Parts: sequence; structure tokens; C-alpha cells
Amino acid sequence: MVNPSPQRTGHVGSRILSVASYRPRTEVGNETIAALIDSSDEWIRRRCGIESRRRAAPDEDLVTMAAAAGSKALAGAGIDPRDVSAVLVATMSHRGRATTAAPLVADALGATAAAAMDLGAACAGFPYALATADALVRSGAAGYVVLVGAERMTDIIDERDRGTAFLFGDGAGAVVVGPAETCEIGPVVWGADGSRSEVLRYDEAGILRMVGPEVFRWATSVVPDVARRALDAAGISASDLAAFIPHQANLRITSVAAKALGLGPHVRVATDIITNGNTGAASIPQAMAALPDTTGPALLVGFGAGLSYAAQVVTLP
Ligand code: COA
Repeated sequence: MVNPSPQRTGHVGSRILSVASYRPRTEVGNETIAALIDSSDEWIRRRCGIESRRRAAPDEDLVTMAAAAGSKALAGAGIDPRDVSAVLVATMSHRGRATTAAPLVADALGATAAAAMDLGAACAGFPYALATADALVRSGAAGYVVLVGAERMTDIIDERDRGTAFLFGDGAGAVVVGPAETCEIGPVVWGADGSRSEVLRYDEAGILRMVGPEVFRWATSVVPDVARRALDAAGISASDLAAFIPHQANLRITSVAAKALGLGPHVRVATDIITNGNTGAASIPQAMAALPDTTGPALLVGFGAGLSYAAQVVTLP
């Protein structure tokens, strides 16, 4: 190192300044999907709570959706794109290009001075990336960070696969993270169990395959556990929460976790999956954007392929 004690101005804490979502124009109901997989609207609603999801049109590619959400989040925070020092994109469905998505998103945003990288932790990607953004801001390595969760699950799903075709949707959600005098993004509790990665994996053709019942069992056990540990790490209890915003994987997983945590009626529980499906790394910021009138502490929990999980308590903007 040239200078043994480089100056780096960090910050006491960081916070989410704004949140925004991009939902593709086309809404697809259960009947359309059920017809291809010998299923029914009733079965899909009962097993996962989904009534409809959005599907991206050809002009709604992953980068376009991510940039639309990021741009809205920047406008909401009142931050000039040229003042952004990092763009992070959490995604599991960006493919077909040599570059990662983040440099393309940064370019579309006009974030010309920003570092840009993708972060892959599947459906746990958003809380993983949020912990990274928080660390970058507190260390002084970044000032304003645009963090986007973006998925075009349509590209990695087999529309005739009975186990997945009805579950997933497309879209993007974004937040802007910036410096704060207090820690408004709580300590992350995270982990992974690669020994069980086979239950949610890509096949040889790059299509997502899932052993649904096993994923369900794992999720209903890991989500309440990691949620409790994130509450402890933040020094608050479930009764202090204003909102519970888990990854929107399946409404039944959300319900099991909310019950296990003993959430009172004052806690808003995100149910964006009903009209949005499971949008992978985009689901948490999209669900957050769908609760615009809620302020205060929110518990975020991401989980999915890996198997990976991450949770933290944040103050909603
Ligand atoms: N439509 C209608 N029936 C279906 C079906 C479908 N799409 N898929 C399976 N079935 C049938 C099965 O054939 C089986 O019938 P049987 O009892 O006569 O043998 C029955 O429904 C139960 O099948 P199973 O695979 O055990 O379904 P499930 O109750 O576990 O529900 C999921 C399937 C996918 C909804 C559920 O396993 C799940 O949500 N898992 C977690 C998925 C998840 O969250 N993934 C994302 C993590 S990021």
C-alpha cells in the first residue's frame, strides 16, 4: 500500500431513502397457465395464494425493467444519477450476455460515476445486496447506492412444468441507500446450505427446476428462525414491527412465518404475491413499494436457491 493510513470518510449508519417498483404491462391470470399444466385457478390459489402475475413483453427486458425501477427510486430520493457511487443488481435470471446487468443498468440510469456489479443469491439476493450496500456506505466506500432486484423469470421457466409454471412472475424493485446519522438498516443475519442446492437448481438447459415440497418444508423452518435472530440483532421484538416483508415465495410460507412470529394485527404483512407472483430477487422491494403508507421498522427475510437466506430490520422510508 502506498499510503499506510488512507483517509476514508465513513458514516455511522445508512438508510433506505426511497423505494420503487416496475411491473410489466401484461397481467396473466391463473386460467391461462392452468390450461398448459393440467391445473386450475382454484388449486393455484389454494396452494400458493397467487391470483395473477405479470409477464414481461419482448421490449421489457431485464435491464429496461431494472432501470425503470431504479430511475423512479432516484427521483423519489431526489438524488442526481451522477452522484450515485454504486449500482448493485440482485438477479438470478439475467443471462445471454457476457456483461452482468449492473453496468447496463448504471448506463441506462446515467450513473456515470458508479461502480456496478451483480449479486447472485437467488431469492435471498435483495437482503444480501442491502447488507452489502449498508457496509459500503458505512465504510465510506460508497455514498449513494442504487440497489435493484430484477427478474425476468419467464426466461428461466418451463411453461409446461407443473411444479413452477404458476409460481413465478417478472418485474423489478429498487431502493436508494444513503448515509445516515443512525443505523436504519439493521445487522444482517445470513447464511447458506449448499449441501441442499439440488432442490432448487437450473437444469442443463438453464431452466429452473424445483422440488416444491422440500423447498416448502425448508422455508417454513428457516424463515421464522432467521427472522427471530434478525429481530434480536436489531434489539427489538416482533411487537415493535410496523411491517413484515418476507420474500414473496408462497402466501402459505408467509402465513406460517407470521403465525410463528406471533405478529399482532398492527403489523402489516406483505401479500404482494397475490397479484404479482414470485418475482425472485425483486419480490421484497416490490412488496415494500406496495405498502406506501407504512413507516417504521420492517423485517425483511429473503430465502431461496442456494439454499441461501438473509434477514434484517430496516426503517421504511
Ligand atoms: N396443479 C394441480 N395439481 C398439482 C400441481 C399443479 N400445478 N402440482 C402438483 N399437483 C398435485 C400433485 O400431483 C399431487 O397430487 P396427489 O396428491 O394426487 O399425488 C398434489 O398436487 C400435491 O403435490 P405437491 O407437489 O406435494 O404440491 P404442494 O402441495 O407441495 O404444492 C407448491 C406445490 C410448489 C405450491 C409447494 O410445494 C410450494 O410452494 N413449495 C415452495 C416453493 C417455493 O416457495 N419456491 C420458491 C422458493 S424461492
